[in-house]
Amino acid sequence: MAIILDGNRVRDEIKEALKPRIARLAAAKRRPGLAAVLVGNHSASEIYVRSKLKTSQELGMCSEKITPPESVTTEEMLALVSELNARSDIDGILVQLPLPRQVDAKRILLAVAPDKDVDGFHPYNVGCLVAGLPGPRACTPAGIMALLDRYNIPIEGKRAVVVGRSDIVGKPVSLLLLHRNATVTICHSRTPGLAAVCREADILVAAIGRPARLDAEYIKPGAAVIDVGMNTLGRREDVARIFRNSPEKLSAFDKRGNVLVGDLDPIDVAERAGAYTPVPGGVGPLTIAMLMANTVESAERRLASC
Ligand code: GUN
Repeated sequence: MAIILDGNRVRDEIKEALKPRIARLAAAKRRPGLAAVLVGNHSASEIYVRSKLKTSQELGMCSEKITPPESVTTEEMLALVSELNARSDIDGILVQLPLPRQVDAKRILLAVAPDKDVDGFHPYNVGCLVAGLPGPRACTPAGIMALLDRYNIPIEGKRAVVVGRSDIVGKPVSLLLLHRNATVTICHSRTPGLAAVCREADILVAAIGRPARLDAEYIKPGAAVIDVGMNTLGRREDVARIFRNSPEKLSAFDKRGNVLVGDLDPIDVAERAGAYTPVPGGVGPLTIAMLMANTVESAERRLASC
């Protein structure tokens, strides 16, 4: 039986460990402050930002949401970020991605003060990651490492294959695994013989955003499989096919009109992997927990430096 890597459990442990740190900051009149910038009405982003703010409020942080319209310009976003950079009560700034096409996302991420960059997306912090220097790490990759560690999955000397080369997940998680002495291969849509490469992985990380794209052929028996995908299935026939007519999934679809699935075939991964993250309830909760951890760390560092 494969071990299920329970992201909700690890998230709760991380949140518990943050509580006394937040209490100490509050006692010093420096409650951590998080500003989330959510542009327009991108429904997935709205859900993510709502969860991030809800968690921060549960933990007793001060958080606020700034919601520029879909038509916002790069200059207006730069002015907004500059205001947040200047505010002493804000320790963390998160600009939810994706941004509308007319906004130059790279310029916006570059404008966030590196010491308030709780997403770890600023090129300065990316450079720190590459060089192995301290600094905020991107939240989903940091969450993946926390999950592997909490379940004592060995990393050193293991073969890790990361499918997906995004700046948010694929590239940073590859570097984190490399720094822990895994032998890392990064694959993407143009990689020939993808299944054979994936089958070599002791640790397989899938972050491609394609529903149930990787099946048994891609999984080495006994591997640790981390599924970053969060794909919405909106057609009943896809739910029936992918979940092999599971009555629970079909009834969930009938109730809600959609069902989530990761990048891995959910039945194959449960049968072949040694350990795997479920979708939902695997990597997703960790992303938010690590954002909270980065915000607390930023507040502590800023308090210590004033
Ligand atoms: N969009 C998808 N994932 C993320 C994330 O971790 N942070 C931000 N800011 N935007 C995202």
